[in-house]
Formats: sequence, C-alpha cells, structure tokens
Amino acid sequence: MLKWSDELIIGVPNLDNQHKKILTHLNKLLKLVDLGFSLSDIKLAMERLEDIVNVHNDAEERLMKKYRYPYLKQHVKEHRIYSDNIKIISKALISHGSNIKLNGTIRSQVEDWYSSHLVAHDMKLGEFLRKLNQK
Ligand SMILES: [Fe+2]
Repeated sequence: MLKWSDELIIGVPNLDNQHKKILTHLNKLLKLVDLGFSLSDIKLAMERLEDIVNVHNDAEERLMKKYRYPYLKQHVKEHRIYSDNIKIISKALISHGSNIKLNGTIRSQVEDWYSSHLVAHDMKLGEFLRKLNQK
C-alpha cells in the first residue's frame, strides 16, 4: 500500500491533489488485482487511472514549460513511458486477467512510479519551483 505523507508535497496545490488522487487510485488497483476482479471493474479502474495520469502529466508539463524547467525533456520522456505502460498493462489485464507474473509487473511498476518518479523527479521539480518563488 502506498502512503501519502507531507514530505511528498511539492507546493503546487493542484498537482499535490492530483498526486494524492493517483496514490489512492493505485492502491485501489492493487487491491483489485490482489483480491480478484470482474472485467468491468478492471476496465473502469484502468480507464480512470489513465484519465487521472493524463490530466496530471499535462498539468505538470505545462508548468515545466512555463518556468523553463531544465529537466523538462527527461521528465516528459518518463511520463510517456508510464502512460504507455498503463496501456500495455491494461490490455494484458483485460485479455488475461490477473496472474502472478502480471501482478508482479504491476507491483513493480507502481513501486517504480512512486519511488523513482514521484519521490525523485516530482520532488526535484517542487524544489525548483520553490527556489523560483524565493527569487
Ligand atoms: Fe511527473
């Protein structure tokens, strides 16, 4: 289970709220995958995740462009990879259901997004924005 903590706040309320929503949604998804799901449940959950992630990535990318964030390219590239992976996982879940291998892939993907993207990259963006504000 992914936990929200105030250390994850980047200081842009809109983005912070979206991060919270994404965490809640990923936890729901992990639960569905662990406990079993119906096709309609998983379809809906994956579509919602895709929607939230797309809206969030767009908002983050707009902000990075606006403030000429120096790591924009790298950050956008990561967003694309996560979006593509959501699509791949979604297709696999819908056509094969959950299985040990796929569940492992989902867990590592969620964990990777949390620790490599949210904690590392998004926090770096937050730090950059905070420094801009102090100028
Ligand atoms: Fe991001």
